[in-house]
Amino acid sequence: MSALFEPYTLRDVTIPNRVWMPPMCQYSAAPEGPDAGAPTDWHFAHYAARTAGGTGLIIVEATAVRPEGRITPYDLGIWNDTQVEAFRRITRFLSDQGTIPAVQLAHAGRKASTDQPWKGGAPVGPDAHGWQPVAPSPLAFDERHPVPTELTLAQIQEVVGQFADAARRALDAGFEIAEIHGAHGYLIGNFLSPHSNHRTDAYGGSYENRTRFALEVVDAVREVWPDDKPLFFRISATDWLQKGGWTPDDTVRFARDLQAHGIDLLDVSSGGNASGVHIPTGPGYQVPFAARVKAETTLPVAAVGLITEVEQAEKILANDEADAVLLGRELLRNPSWARLAARELGGDAQVHVPDQYHRSV
Ligand SMILES: Cc1cc2nc3c(=O)[nH]c(=O)nc-3n(C[C@H](O)[C@H](O)[C@H](O)COP(=O)(O)O)c2cc1C
Repeated sequence: MSALFEPYTLRDVTIPNRVWMPPMCQYSAAPEGPDAGAPTDWHFAHYAARTAGGTGLIIVEATAVRPEGRITPYDLGIWNDTQVEAFRRITRFLSDQGTIPAVQLAHAGRKASTDQPWKGGAPVGPDAHGWQPVAPSPLAFDERHPVPTELTLAQIQEVVGQFADAARRALDAGFEIAEIHGAHGYLIGNFLSPHSNHRTDAYGGSYENRTRFALEVVDAVREVWPDDKPLFFRISATDWLQKGGWTPDDTVRFARDLQAHGIDLLDVSSGGNASGVHIPTGPGYQVPFAARVKAETTLPVAAVGLITEVEQAEKILANDEADAVLLGRELLRNPSWARLAARELGGDAQVHVPDQYHRSV
């Protein structure tokens, strides 16, 4: 019995298999003008190819709730109706082919306003479509980045509302699942970690205060996101700091809080909030963080990070370390990974193959 190709139901949504695509920014939208932040032909072709390859769930890349929440000026956004209409072309195609369309709702916080990675990824100012980033505290990510502006209490509430508006639009655009981006050192992660949050008001200091913003976002999104549709949260399980950062213990505790606030699955990543740390990467290097949440809580989890082999992926699920696997760069290399995995496993491993491709089964 193949674990990878067993369907998975959360609330009223059944995902056809456990081979999922994590959010991966393409930095390929218009930076300004009427189509700013809207998906383009590139996005359609990119997501359509992974759909035709049998991927069970596709989480569309970090999509900004407001223009200043983009990582680069070329990121996707979901703050207006033009964007909603453009997303519909993608969600319609995915749904028609049996792939569940999800979207990651994001605000980049102190790491916003940088150039496309292939152009060096340096912070950019207004002369290159950039802007001044915001964060819980005026602490720069590293010596390259500017010192962000500290959000006021009123501005924090505004951003909470922007996440809810974005979720409403994502629903309208045809997404079945929304994921809140709490990982990789962007705005929500900036609040969670004592490394980047030095506030002395209700949003900083204690664990309860540092998690307040994240939980307010979760509550606001859950209120507009229908009860029959799942809501995911992506977390960095650790800052990889020896001390003074967010830790795997915090993640386990927070997983229980997230579940109590209506989150259905934790997407467990790591890092991104502290510069200059050593991350011991290697095959499946983040799986133990997901496995710990799975073992110590009742919240379902997805594992991500250098999962590339069929046998490796099967084992993660069979050993109960995660409920699903997310394959990032491997799916960039090979959009048909799921289809080829089903073929390799044989037996009951069934995957949707588009009619047009049947002669290749
Ligand atoms: C090109 C690229 C863009 C990415 N963009 C995002 C993103 O938008 N949101 C996010 O949470 N992670 C992002 N990531 C991280 C991936 O989702 C994933 O966690 C990471 O690549 C590790 O998985 P892998 O080893 O299977 O690639 C990105 C990674 C890549 C390679």
